[in-house]
Amino acid sequence: HQKLVPFSKNFLWGSASAAYQVEGAWNEDGKGLSVWDNFVQKPGTTFKNSNGNVAVDHYHRFKEDVALMAEQGLKAYRFSISWSRILPNGKGTINQKGLDFYNELIDELLKYDIEPIVTIYHWDLPQALQDEYNGWESREIIEDFTAYAKILFDAFSDRVRHWVSLNEQNVFIMHGYMLGSHPPAVQNLKRMYEANHIANLANASVIKAFREGGYPGKIGPSFAYTPSYPVDCHPENIIANENMADYSAHFWMDVYVYGRYPKVMLTTLEKMGIAPTILPTDTDLLKQGTPDFMGLNYYQSVTIASNPLDGVSFSGKANYSGEKGTTQEAGMPGLFKMVSNPYLEKTNWDWTIDPNGLRVCLRRISSRYNLPVLITENGLGEFDTLEDGKIHDNERINYLHSHCLAIQEAITDGVEVIGYCTWSFTDLLSWLNGYQKRYGFVYVDRDENSEKELKRYKKDSFYWYQQVIKSNGQSL
Ligand code: BG6
Repeated sequence: HQKLVPFSKNFLWGSASAAYQVEGAWNEDGKGLSVWDNFVQKPGTTFKNSNGNVAVDHYHRFKEDVALMAEQGLKAYRFSISWSRILPNGKGTINQKGLDFYNELIDELLKYDIEPIVTIYHWDLPQALQDEYNGWESREIIEDFTAYAKILFDAFSDRVRHWVSLNEQNVFIMHGYMLGSHPPAVQNLKRMYEANHIANLANASVIKAFREGGYPGKIGPSFAYTPSYPVDCHPENIIANENMADYSAHFWMDVYVYGRYPKVMLTTLEKMGIAPTILPTDTDLLKQGTPDFMGLNYYQSVTIASNPLDGVSFSGKANYSGEKGTTQEAGMPGLFKMVSNPYLEKTNWDWTIDPNGLRVCLRRISSRYNLPVLITENGLGEFDTLEDGKIHDNERINYLHSHCLAIQEAITDGVEVIGYCTWSFTDLLSWLNGYQKRYGFVYVDRDENSEKELKRYKKDSFYWYQQVIKSNGQSL
């Protein structure tokens, strides 16, 4: 074993959340509706028809939650701002009460020296913009998203040093326009690649506005990176894995950093007649809006094999219930499919547990894009049991422990890692999987059927991370 390089003394030991998943107060204090407020009303879209109307009531209990963060010793807290709380119609009149809420949250964090990391967009698009011009499918959103981001920069950049532009563009676009499992629940690849290109332009436009405004701090998108391995060394499986790497990773990150799509993937889309419309001026904008860091959301790796033209597609059933082994095979016909990895354990939701995959992501981002990485999400979603006021979540401790070591190995390899935000601080709503799939250091006593009293309990992992932070990673 090589000697591990210690974590830097400014390393941001953090944790994360997103507005829709924690805040609740869905129609209070002037907030407008988001596409998620609307989507969950349709029966059958989420596990047991769960929704974020109340979520874990962070909107009313943020002081209690921040006090728990301070007790744990968090150095950073990543949260997202609800666009329709600031601009109920997505544009136009500002809702002062929305700004007040985030001002108070930021001040409360700073009171305890917890650095706020702000996500500008974590999927809760104002419904008004979806209704007016189909949201991400119209170039009008570029201007509206930039105007919204500028309001946030003007209001908060005196206190916020790290900004996340778009959270997991690859996920909200693929779920929204290919799988149809997130709003606007479309299943159309042509529309998906158009919307995705427009999201790229909006992302670049916001980063460009941040630079031109001379705001202090750094900005970058958070990417959901699921690294892939070929199932074996059969040449067809090697090409399938190349397809997967382009399709699932480079197709987004190359655009963020280099302002261009990977050639092979673009050619494939052109042949299929589903490539996006790229105007000559688009490339300039993309190149002017490149990130300062790559935000990385990492949960699992996948293993890849070849897939014939009449093979499996992404229409297969996903496991939203926590019934192990119910996920069906999925892939892109003619390109690749995902298969089981005999070396890796899986969670009850069939996600592989692979700390090495995190090291792979960090190394690849660092070598391919030469950017520092802020890990904006990583964690274990599992059932937890509350017994006598305690939660013994050893599996979560093991998961986080092994992933922290993988980060340290990557740092030793030469990767610059700014910080590590676990997903999540308190338990929260898992978009499609309800409240039973828990990620937090803090257990919130509620379920899909009842909000109960939403009481907070510290899990064993709370105390474990407290020690990690206190020792700056030496206790690992
Ligand atoms: C990421 C999202 O996709 O993963 C989070 O940014 C999400 O918002 C997290 O909750 C875990 O996913 P899931 O489906 O288990 O809730």
